[in-house]
Amino acid sequence: MATEGYMSGFGSHFATEAIPGALPEGRNSPQKPPFGLYAEQLSGTSFTAPRHENRRSWLYRMRPSAEHPPYRKYEGAGLFAPAAAGGELAPNRLRWDPLALPREPTDLIDGLVTMAVNHGPETLTGVAVHVYRANRDMETRAFTNADGEMLFVPQMGALTLLTEMGRLDVKPGEIALVPRGVRFRALLSDGEARGYVAENHGSLFRLPELGPIGSNGLANPRDFLTPEAGFEDWDDDFELVQKYLGRLWTTTLDHSPLDVVAWHGNLVPWKYDLSRFNTIGSISFDHPDPSIFTVLTSPSDVPGRANADFVIFPPRWMVAEDTFRPPWFHRNVMSECMGLIRGAYDAKAEGFAPGALSLHNLMAGHGPDVATWKGASEASLKPHKIEETMAFMVESCWPFRPTSHALGCKELQKDYDKAWGGFPKAKLPEA
Ligand SMILES: [Fe+2]
Repeated sequence: MATEGYMSGFGSHFATEAIPGALPEGRNSPQKPPFGLYAEQLSGTSFTAPRHENRRSWLYRMRPSAEHPPYRKYEGAGLFAPAAAGGELAPNRLRWDPLALPREPTDLIDGLVTMAVNHGPETLTGVAVHVYRANRDMETRAFTNADGEMLFVPQMGALTLLTEMGRLDVKPGEIALVPRGVRFRALLSDGEARGYVAENHGSLFRLPELGPIGSNGLANPRDFLTPEAGFEDWDDDFELVQKYLGRLWTTTLDHSPLDVVAWHGNLVPWKYDLSRFNTIGSISFDHPDPSIFTVLTSPSDVPGRANADFVIFPPRWMVAEDTFRPPWFHRNVMSECMGLIRGAYDAKAEGFAPGALSLHNLMAGHGPDVATWKGASEASLKPHKIEETMAFMVESCWPFRPTSHALGCKELQKDYDKAWGGFPKAKLPEA
């Protein structure tokens, strides 16, 4: 299991071997790697990326990953990876109830439902938001995503992600990232699972700069845990499904592709416990912009404008004086896709259950509903703690387009706009 901290800038480098002596010393691709293993480089950035951004790992495996028959179209997962709905998109706020769990045996890949996407993966920008619902292990098949890195956000049930680079056990309240191209399969230790995936097509997720906050705070690098090498020595038919340019493809191997016996480098899967997030907020008045809750950011080419931010709303003390403490009304140029892992979100009194999803695209007016506004406007402003909650947001500079399924499914709430109905008109002094 994971043992080491990660993401100290990009300077972290890891080396791990499942069998003593499997990792070559002193060179990446010796003429004859130990035990007849095959040396393979997996790059997450271009070769010539600046040193502080450059990420790659060397894998030492039982067979080269190049050994596979042609891919053919995969027909199994009907709701994963369709293009976004075409045509005109009304500037409406959207919200979905938690998607129902599957009735038939369904593994993680077949249980993925793409809800909203922006930019095609071939542009190397943008992010897609998926929901997964599963009740079956990925038994003799693995998945790999050429379109982007996958950030898993479990909401119900734990996931065991068996990756080429080792095992990650991830429970609700934790997140995990599988880099672009890394093969993995998912087991469900609780039998059933539901959660979210942010699929980042753009620059790799990293920790945000801290500016005047200083050298500590928000997500601390030492809390990102990476796996130790672990492999499957399995010589039998094994399906490999790949997402590539927005579509799914499949091929059949005669062995498990999770056959990496040793590896070293700085392109790695990791997991992070969101309760380790060091929440920072106002101790005087007003609350900061929600960017203060950024866990990870994927920068765009414009400084300060994220291709994708992963932001959380964790348990925290509220102490600000003379302040409306929940999120205020706002219209942003950035677009927001939100989910809820547990508890309640402090801007909505109802209608946003754990497992639900909401979408507020650019310039959509939103914020507290009437009940929340009324309660927070009249509350006695003693220090109090928001407990037992964990909401998150995938925020992007690119507006999200829902998929046709998302726009037509029964979980789409028909009356979401009513959350902002019934506000009393302000009373101006008489002239
Ligand atoms: Fe918002």
